[in-house]
Amino acid sequence: MVKLILLLSLCTLGATNGATAGNTTVPAIYILGDSLVDVGNNNHLLTTIKADFPHNGVDFAGGKPTGRFCNGRNAADFIAEKLGLPSAPPYLSIRKISNSSEAFFNGINFASAGAGILDATHSGECLSLNKQIEYLSTAYAAMVEEIGDRQTQEHLAKSIFTIIIGSNDIFDYVKSNGDATPQQFVGSLTSTLQGQLKRIYNIGARKFSFIGTGPVGCCPALRSQSKTGECKEVANLVSHLYNEEIIFLLQEMKSQFSDINYSFFNTYIALLEIIQMPFNHGFTEVKAACCGIGDLNAKVACTPFSHYCSNRTSHIFWDYYHPTEATAGILTAEIFDGSMPHVYPINMRQLGAL
Ligand SMILES: *[C@@H]1O[C@H](CO)[C@@H](O)[C@H](O)[C@H]1NC(C)=O
Ligand SMILES: *[C@@H]1O[C@H](CO)[C@@H](O)[C@H](O)[C@H]1NC(C)=O
Ligand SMILES: *[C@@H]1O[C@H](CO)[C@@H](O)[C@H](O)[C@H]1NC(C)=O
Ligand SMILES: *[C@@H]1O[C@H](CO)[C@@H](O)[C@H](O)[C@H]1NC(C)=O
Repeated sequence: MVKLILLLSLCTLGATNGATAGNTTVPAIYILGDSLVDVGNNNHLLTTIKADFPHNGVDFAGGKPTGRFCNGRNAADFIAEKLGLPSAPPYLSIRKISNSSEAFFNGINFASAGAGILDATHSGECLSLNKQIEYLSTAYAAMVEEIGDRQTQEHLAKSIFTIIIGSNDIFDYVKSNGDATPQQFVGSLTSTLQGQLKRIYNIGARKFSFIGTGPVGCCPALRSQSKTGECKEVANLVSHLYNEEIIFLLQEMKSQFSDINYSFFNTYIALLEIIQMPFNHGFTEVKAACCGIGDLNAKVACTPFSHYCSNRTSHIFWDYYHPTEATAGILTAEIFDGSMPHVYPINMRQLGAL
């Protein structure tokens, strides 16, 4: 009886979403990834990789730090807004509440700052992509328990799965000076990722939004390693190769599983354009972080003891690794409505309309 009531209320919810709340046919968004889209999972972990203190969140509703590595909203929030959906809550904050499986139908954010494709990336300090997929599988089982397998599959097939991962693996590679060439390293990333995407598919994802890595060598942390504040070329090279390889990986996946659709966003190209032509977007500071200490404000994270700039819309970067809310908003507009070579083969608006 309880299940029947729930099922009915879900149907109504679906109908309202389609007509008013959401302006696309997408009932929910499921996000996996790293700090670029973490909305508070790390608040629940014993880790040093956190952002639940000022000055993070200075431009968020109420000026509150939430665990987002940003002055305001991040890409997860903007993507949800574009789809007319609420920003998906952190899995670790909803999994324990009563009726959590009901909440699972409205979208879940599994992203965790520090996360990588490889388990070794910040091991023990975050939810690795593998761990996030394990949690997705747990959530799936709870949803099936509520409404059954077929209904859950239908729900997930209409939902969008956004994946943003890889930057932390690249930072580790650049730091470690390992033996692998950039090509070999990217090969190991994409072959691991291939298995991970298949597991996400097997759980029920059919609409993939994959967001590539940016020109990570141009973030303040890596620029500050050069006397003149230049971008770290090897980091950019690896990121560029990674974006190229993801396209092949997604093409191959589509040939194997013809019932998927995907939208890939080449953050490398899109963000590099902003960095090269900042004035088009009102940015006056390309190199320095808004919040931090030392050269380029890039020697430490944004903490209550760091300085922060008075005008956040003039900076591309918020802290030593992360973009400002302004940058996240511009990139998300591209994710949603952009065209080639920024998005391939379709943008997120088109993905959502399927
Ligand atoms: C949980 O769900 C059931 C069935 O939909 C509902 O009757 C109950 O009030 C809910 N409890 C809470 C705490 O939301
Ligand atoms: C949905 O609504 C949001 C907020 O009004 C808007 O930004 C977005 O472009 C809309 N999406 C579509 C597909 O119309
Ligand atoms: C989505 O996938 C289906 C099934 O393979 C395909 O027929 C359709 O053309 C795809 N849609 C787009 C916009 O690529
Ligand atoms: C903040 O920066 C933006 C973009 O550079 C500019 O348009 C705006 O006037 C600045 N605001 C203030 C208060 O200086």
